[in-house]
Amino acid sequence: MVSHRWFMLGLSFAVFGSLHAQSSDPSHAPADHPWWRPAVIYEVYPRSFADSNNDGIGDLNGIASKLDYLEALGVDAIWITPCYPSPQKDFGYDVSDYTNIDPMYGTLADFDHLVEQARKHHIRVLMDFVLNHTSDQNPWFLDSRSSRTSVHRDWYIWRDGKGPGEPPNNWISDFGGSAWTWDAKTGQYYYHYFEAAQPDLNWRNPLVEKAMFNVARFWYDRGVAGFRLDAVDTLFEDPKLHDNPYVNGEMVNKYNDNLPENHVVLRRLRRISDGYDAVLLGETWTDNIGQLKQYYGDHDDEIQLPMNFMFATVNTLSAPKFRHQIDSIESSGEWPVFVITNHDMERSYNRYGDGVHNDEIAKLMAALYLTLRGTAVMYYGEEIGMSNNDPTRLQDVLDPLGRMDWPKNKGRDGERTPMQWSAAPNAGFTAGKPWLPIPASYKTHNVATELADPDSILNFYKTLLHLRRDNPVLASGDYIDVDPDNPNLLCFLRSYQGRSVLIALNLSGQPQPLSLDLARYGWGAGKASVLLSTMQQPPTDPGNATLDPFAVVIIQSERVPTSSASGSVVASAHVQN
Ligand code: GLC
Repeated sequence: MVSHRWFMLGLSFAVFGSLHAQSSDPSHAPADHPWWRPAVIYEVYPRSFADSNNDGIGDLNGIASKLDYLEALGVDAIWITPCYPSPQKDFGYDVSDYTNIDPMYGTLADFDHLVEQARKHHIRVLMDFVLNHTSDQNPWFLDSRSSRTSVHRDWYIWRDGKGPGEPPNNWISDFGGSAWTWDAKTGQYYYHYFEAAQPDLNWRNPLVEKAMFNVARFWYDRGVAGFRLDAVDTLFEDPKLHDNPYVNGEMVNKYNDNLPENHVVLRRLRRISDGYDAVLLGETWTDNIGQLKQYYGDHDDEIQLPMNFMFATVNTLSAPKFRHQIDSIESSGEWPVFVITNHDMERSYNRYGDGVHNDEIAKLMAALYLTLRGTAVMYYGEEIGMSNNDPTRLQDVLDPLGRMDWPKNKGRDGERTPMQWSAAPNAGFTAGKPWLPIPASYKTHNVATELADPDSILNFYKTLLHLRRDNPVLASGDYIDVDPDNPNLLCFLRSYQGRSVLIALNLSGQPQPLSLDLARYGWGAGKASVLLSTMQQPPTDPGNATLDPFAVVIIQSERVPTSSASGSVVASAHVQN
């Protein structure tokens, strides 16, 4: 099966001066942008972020207790992966009640408190909306499977088999095996793109759409600023249930993935969201830029922020491969959304690290996705260089995907381990037993230790995030590739209202010459000012310099006028003005 979604696992593997938000609007965005365009959206995996009651599992009050940290870090919004009541078969992506909070995470009152406190910290809250399927314990499904004539029977996809013991067609679940499960009581099969415990909703039934859109309104009315839309590509299936074809021995999900009807639903959901001035962030796994472009809508009337997983899965420190992905989203005319990892992908620290220079490479990757033109989505722990802690024995694996294909695929537990807050036992995450084991690297890679070290990954991230927010060129500037044939360096200008910032990144492990002629781009003669660099002696002449292995150099052709904004930029090691 060609499963784009789990490909990673298969490999085993701000305007000047407007810094301070109005009390009614937590935005740091420049006036010419909606808040979410220059934003950094921080993904919180609630089980693993902060545990306030020491049961070993994170919770909403834990997240609220870390808002000072998140504000100081410089993020604009948090996206919380599902915290609804759930049997946790797929760790929350199996929702049994869409309008409540799972007791393990707290209560609706805790949620309201979190949204209110977040607003005070100028941070918006996005929820995760699991549209494609519910839990098999959801009352809708319990009723659906109770009889062929139940009220909710048609809310799910029930079909007769092709013959005795034969499912309706050849579709394969992303979690392995047939996508159809036999239900003895009513003598039919139900369909599930994912686990059998995650039956697909029937989006062709208008009552399903109505119920789900009411869920959206419920959370919008509670102050949510938007949703991350889970698995939006799989909402619809071919009503005739044609068998999927095989290409080169692999199934292509032609009839149950990326159907045009998806876009009709997204346009309707967008209209509801617009009524709340909310943003939609999409889990949009696509094979090419044309497919990704469709998710924005022909008239910008679908998802404002479809995540670009083609960029996220470059998987190798290759300047040409990243350049190709950047060029292709830039040439689409759409607003890019960059992400380098999430709760379904091996952490970037392992994926891009060479085992020797991982900390330098973590800074390099941060400088890449946080200085490009676009919204950035950042996974918790990336800012401290958290690494994967994959299970070594099948009996320790919790993720259903890891159990399915062990040991070829070790599952997703490794990238979901508890946030490393300090060098104290359990990384300061809990006084109980953490639900997943914490890697030994927590002793060096944790918030407290890194805050005290001016050269840490965390302080690099902080400086970069504040630079991104405070410098209007980075927030709003165009993207210009100024060294398009360089096999080792990515060098691009961001340019806005006559000012330019050059970002020069060495993606190789060798020193590399930098010899750019930037005059034609209006780059001023004379010395540029260094905004941020990992080099001890950062170069200021882009025409004649050498970049250290894995170096980051961010320079500006003219001095940014003094304002409270530039103050935060000066505050860290290797940052010169
Ligand atoms: C999305 C989630 C993933 C989950 C799947 C099924 O891909 O990101 O974690 O397993 O949907 O809900």
